[in-house]
Amino acid sequence: MAWYQVLVLGALLSVSWCTEDWTFPPGFKFGAATSAYQVEGAWNVSDKGESIWDRYTHTRPEDIADGSNGDVACDSYNLWQTDIDNMVDLGLHYYRFSISWSRLLPNGFANKISEDGARYYNNLIDGLLEKGIEPLVTLYHWDLPQNLQDLGGWTNPLIADWFSDYARVAYSLFGDRVKMWLTINEPMAICDVPYNAGAWAPGILSPDHGTHLCNKNLLLAHAKAYRVYDEEFRAMYNGEISLSNILFWFEPWTEDDHDLAELAIQYCAGRYSHAIYSKEGGWPPAIEKIMEENSKKKGYSKSNFPAFTQEEIEFIKGTFDYFALNFYGAMLVRAAEEGEQLGPWPFGDIPDINAVIGYRPEWPENIVSILGIYPEGLRKQLHWLKENYGDMKFLITENGYPTRGEPNDQDRIEYIEVHLREILLAIKEGINLTHYTVWSLMDNFEWADGYGTRFGLYEVDFNDPLRPRTPRDSAAFYAKVIKNHALDEE
Ligand code: NOJ
Repeated sequence: MAWYQVLVLGALLSVSWCTEDWTFPPGFKFGAATSAYQVEGAWNVSDKGESIWDRYTHTRPEDIADGSNGDVACDSYNLWQTDIDNMVDLGLHYYRFSISWSRLLPNGFANKISEDGARYYNNLIDGLLEKGIEPLVTLYHWDLPQNLQDLGGWTNPLIADWFSDYARVAYSLFGDRVKMWLTINEPMAICDVPYNAGAWAPGILSPDHGTHLCNKNLLLAHAKAYRVYDEEFRAMYNGEISLSNILFWFEPWTEDDHDLAELAIQYCAGRYSHAIYSKEGGWPPAIEKIMEENSKKKGYSKSNFPAFTQEEIEFIKGTFDYFALNFYGAMLVRAAEEGEQLGPWPFGDIPDINAVIGYRPEWPENIVSILGIYPEGLRKQLHWLKENYGDMKFLITENGYPTRGEPNDQDRIEYIEVHLREILLAIKEGINLTHYTVWSLMDNFEWADGYGTRFGLYEVDFNDPLRPRTPRDSAAFYAKVIKNHALDEE
């Protein structure tokens, strides 16, 4: 039996729901996602400024599996109409894409708006709406203007002003038509990966300081951008805004690791969510305490986990209209043994909480191999969020499966299907989940994996200058789910 058959069977048996129908609630929406750097290409056309990913891939190609970059990527800067045609074929209700900050504001600051950048995103948004596809726009999907990085990027507290100025420009230009916004995509990938692990742009290793400064400044930047929307645009445009978190579900490795698993969830979800979504705001108390102890152990006189002032706590708290969740898989945690060597988070273990990461043998690993497939983890994660942060609207803003590119992608179909079943179960159990987004509409530049790892419902031929897109089997599957507004009965 293939891995996915085991999972489907498990899901069915766990609820003895085989005779019920698998219809999604009325109004439930299906979408697909991409991001600017991963698909647009045209990295230096017109007056577009350089981003940190332009700089990183051009200067450190050895850090990208195939030495590639996003200079051309899917060429969606030129082929966006083809992309929309494909979305129409899928029947998507919405398209999640991101704005390239340095395409819209070539030098990162709001004193100069690129006409070409504004034209490009206006065309894309209008083109989508003409076909009845809603735009769900992410303001920041990792491509910081390089000259802001030169000033310290996310470790400089002024980033909150720079980012909210940029957000204001985007709301004023597009807010009449864009009603769903995400400020920042996956803070953990912005702070933890570059500063904890020294990988990905800007690739600056600084686990004791960089990660934490980035974390705090990012929360403030999000909050400021949210408040700009709230105070200056909401009454006029009536949209909704949040940020999207990547969350891994953590299971205890042994009976003794329950508390540690909870701590790992606080570490992963809490550091980027507690300040925004919890009733009390600020850092998760357990994490703040551990970081202080760690700082002392490392010889610092005080915590290098930057405290919030009461004013900052109030400023960040409640800056959301929904919870947006990117979910791919789960991990096991156990306490490290005395003297055990730990890899860096998020590509190894979690040294900050002395935790070793592993995977259950029955959780299949995908080729990215940083997490195990455990669809039930998604439902558990949703319940955890509801219990800890309260009842609110949830959106899955990413979920997807990597392959090496084969057109008949049964694995991807089954992956999407088992996660959709968990979503339906979660909804039945009282979770207010309204949107599901496949990552990705099409193959694209998968960061340090280059073009070898493929997430697309559509295959893109990166060897062909015309970048043709070809639907995979998963595209037909997803189109059918959307059309039927239901999964097949098993
Ligand atoms: C997370 C990111 O948001 C996206 O950019 C990436 O390509 C996918 N997940 C897959 O790794």
